[in-house]
Amino acid sequence: MKPEIQANKIVILSGSGISVESGIPTFRDANGLWHNYSWEAVASPAGWQAHPEVVLEFYNERRKHAAEAQPNVAHRAIAALESAYEVIVVTQNVDDLHERAGSTNVIHVHGQLNYARGTSEGRKRYRINDAPISMGQLCEDGTQLRPDIVWFGEDVEYMTESRRHLETAAKVLVVGTSLSVFPAASLVKAARSRAEKILVALAMDKLPYGFRFMRGKATSIVPFLCQGWLAGGQNGDPYSDSNTTVS
Ligand code: APR
Repeated sequence: MKPEIQANKIVILSGSGISVESGIPTFRDANGLWHNYSWEAVASPAGWQAHPEVVLEFYNERRKHAAEAQPNVAHRAIAALESAYEVIVVTQNVDDLHERAGSTNVIHVHGQLNYARGTSEGRKRYRINDAPISMGQLCEDGTQLRPDIVWFGEDVEYMTESRRHLETAAKVLVVGTSLSVFPAASLVKAARSRAEKILVALAMDKLPYGFRFMRGKATSIVPFLCQGWLAGGQNGDPYSDSNTTVS
């Protein structure tokens, strides 16, 4: 038995594309992170085992860069929806731009740059903001501190909770993700057929079933969309048909 859809609930599923215009690169676009770094070397348990100092340095740089970045109008428009809706942001992003824009319900399924954690099963975590993690810096349980990030091959967090939110949302906005990394990408399947479903990106190989594709930058489209929803619009956007292109 599927749970009841909540008429006043909006769920956002965001990816790195929403932070591009804040100066944080994506992963798979032309100048994306994985074109400049090998994810096996810097974002996998094997890389951590082989050269933890390289992994720490990679995340120290990303943490510092993300702390210097500012939320953009898309982050802020999503935060503003909370004045009229229950808004849950499920993000694959590890920056805190949604929070700094004012969103109060943010679920990070791939971890957070501004936290560190021990390497034991206990996974005790500490907020470190933009501080670096160095070799020899230990958790209180005596294990080496590591970034509180979900690496490739590690268990993704909060999937059950996130899926539940997608199942009960009346409106779903997917923004800035290629939906190429699972299981996070599978969350779109939990969106209900009766829900209003929109996907914003520059390009989309395979549009998830039932989603309207709006091609364009998050900062151009998301504020429009949110204004429409705040004005009480059913589909919340001035665009009438799918495959709308916005320059
Ligand atoms: N506005 C909106 N969307 C954009 C913009 C923009 N300005 N620029 C790029 N995009 C879109 C691209 O069209 C693409 O669909 O953002 C998406 C970026 O895709 P990826 O680089 O694959 O990033 P993402 O989907 O967030 O990656 C998912 O992969 O490596 C892992 O853990 C990492 O969380 C990450 C996951």
